[in-house]
Amino acid sequence: MTIHGTFPNTRLRRNRKAPWIRSLVEEHQIRSCDLILPLFVTEGQQLSEPVKSLPGVNRLSIDQAIITCQRAAERGIKAIALFPVVPLAKKTDDAKEALNPDNLLCQAIAAIKAAVPTLGIITDIALDPYTSHGHDGLLVNGDIANDATVHILCQQAIIQAAAGADIVAPSDMMDGRIRAIRQKLDIHGYQDVSILSYAVKYASSFYGPFRDAVGSATNIGKSGKHTYQMDPANSKEALREAALDIEEGADMLMVKPGLPYLDIIKVVSDTFPLPVFAYQVSGEYAMIKAAAANGWIDGDQVMLESLLAFKRAGARAILTYAALDIAAKLGNI
Ligand code: PBG
Repeated sequence: MTIHGTFPNTRLRRNRKAPWIRSLVEEHQIRSCDLILPLFVTEGQQLSEPVKSLPGVNRLSIDQAIITCQRAAERGIKAIALFPVVPLAKKTDDAKEALNPDNLLCQAIAAIKAAVPTLGIITDIALDPYTSHGHDGLLVNGDIANDATVHILCQQAIIQAAAGADIVAPSDMMDGRIRAIRQKLDIHGYQDVSILSYAVKYASSFYGPFRDAVGSATNIGKSGKHTYQMDPANSKEALREAALDIEEGADMLMVKPGLPYLDIIKVVSDTFPLPVFAYQVSGEYAMIKAAAANGWIDGDQVMLESLLAFKRAGARAILTYAALDIAAKLGNI
């Protein structure tokens, strides 16, 4: 058989022939305003303690967190997600520090809101930073008590809203908490506080460095969160979780972890009209950083490629510990 001049009929490489045409046909982009910066706040002053398993991430006292937030805003980041590092002495079985309206998290919310009012503040609703056993809910006879936990989560939402949280983000995976929190917020006059539901959160081993950062790793020990977080083997269940949380009043949905669960981001965002956010969790970030530190991969390029994959799968915004660095590289767009 002779190969004619017309072979092959279709040449997809024409659209890739130079940077300018590649830009024109590009379907997805990462922008600074797509990124949400998670921040760990700690008690004290002038503190910036590196988290060993999260290179480049520090636990910050509130004064330092404010400086980081100003920088984030300058780089075009629109929102932060706050996580408190609660000292061991304040962790109890009943998580009562979670309901102290003057706790570290509430102080951080108020101080950051005052200093950088244009930045959206997302707060975590779950009890794990505050429980001596490290679980997201109350432990009763060896079980995480759903309804009793939801009752506390509602109060946690109220004190966070009162401190100035713009979006509360329940990450606890208790059943029925979205409706309960929505009702409680509305009754207290916080109709404008949004709910970002961690609707689809898996019982993942990728959360290890986060637990180091907030100091819950030793508390949780070997006991897992499999009775409330989702089984990594399941995807249809993700649709049920998402549908329920939408019906209960969620404004946005989170899928977590991110890269190993792109199929889930895709199916949830294709199925439902709500904005879907994705969390590039601590273990994902740490793996990229570790390989880059060994010189095995180009860390920045791999990070950008991972984040782009989230967008391609359908994520609207992405929580990533690399938000500040990536925003600096992208410039304000
Ligand atoms: C806990 C919470 C976790 C993360 C965010 N909120 C850990 C867990 O469920 O044990 C993990 C985030 C990360 O790994 O970056 N409510």
